[in-house]
Amino acid sequence: MSKCLVVFLVIIADLSESASFKKCSRNDNQCLTLSIKDALEQLTVPIKEVGLPSLDPLEIPALSIGAGTGPVQFNQNYKNFKIYGFTKVESINATLTENILKIDLHVLETLSDFEYEVDGKILIFPIKGKGTGMITVDKPEFILTFNLEEYEKEGEKYLKVINKTLSIKPQKMHFEFSNDLFGGDKEFTNIVKTAMNENWKDIYADVGPSYEEAYGQIFMSIFNNLLSKVPISELFNS
Ligand SMILES: *[C@@H]1O[C@H](CO)[C@@H](O)[C@H](O)[C@H]1NC(C)=O
Ligand SMILES: *[C@@H]1O[C@H](CO)[C@@H](O)[C@H](O)[C@H]1NC(C)=O
Repeated sequence: MSKCLVVFLVIIADLSESASFKKCSRNDNQCLTLSIKDALEQLTVPIKEVGLPSLDPLEIPALSIGAGTGPVQFNQNYKNFKIYGFTKVESINATLTENILKIDLHVLETLSDFEYEVDGKILIFPIKGKGTGMITVDKPEFILTFNLEEYEKEGEKYLKVINKTLSIKPQKMHFEFSNDLFGGDKEFTNIVKTAMNENWKDIYADVGPSYEEAYGQIFMSIFNNLLSKVPISELFNS
C-alpha cells in the first residue's frame, strides 16, 4: 500500500525543474491553498524527483477492508485498485496552523476500478465470487488533518506526519460488478446490484470508516515520503 499515492501536500514545495510548485511563507494559507491545488493538478503523472506517485489514477496494488458490522458482512480483498479523479479539484481550502495541516478538498467525482474476491453477505444476500468492479462517488469531500512534527537530520530541519484523520463525505455512490457474484447467476446479481445502489448510504455508513482509515494511511505515507526528502528550508519561504 505504501507505494501508492499521494498527494496533496506535495505541493508546497518548489523542488524540481520539471514540476513547478509554488513556494509560500509558512503562515500564508491563501498561498498554500493555491499551491496545493496547483500541485494536485500536476499529479496526473508521478514526480519521481521527490518520490511522488501519480494521483490520477492513484494505483494501489492490494487493498483489504475488514467486514463491517452492518450490511457489509465480508472482508473486501481488492487487487489493482485504481482511483481516478483526485486531480479534478472543485474547491479546496488548506490551512497550516502551528503544526497542524488541514485540507478540505472537494472533487467532482472519484471512480475506482479493481479486481475483487468476496465471500460473505451483503445486505441480506449471501455472496461469493470474484471478478472486476467499479465504484463511482459523486462530489466527495475529503477533510484531511495531519499532525506534523519537526526533527533534524544532518543539520537540516524536516517535518513528518505523526498522525492523521480523514473524513470522506460522498454525495452519492454507485456500484458496478462483473456478473459472477453468485456463481454466474446474472439475474440475481442484478437484483443485488440494484439493492446495493439503492442502499448505498447504509453500505457507506458501515464500511466508510475503514476506507477513511485506509486512504488516510496511504495519503500519510505518500506525504511522508516527500517530507523525508525535502527539508523545511526548501518547503517554505522564510
Ligand atoms: C478555510 O478553513 C479555515 C479553517 O478551517 C477557515 O477558518 C476558513 O474560513 C476557510 N476558508 C475558506 C475560504 O473557506
Ligand atoms: C496527534 O498528535 C498530536 C500531537 O502529538 C496530539 O495532540 C493529538 O491528540 C493526536 N491526535 C490523534 C488523533 O491521535
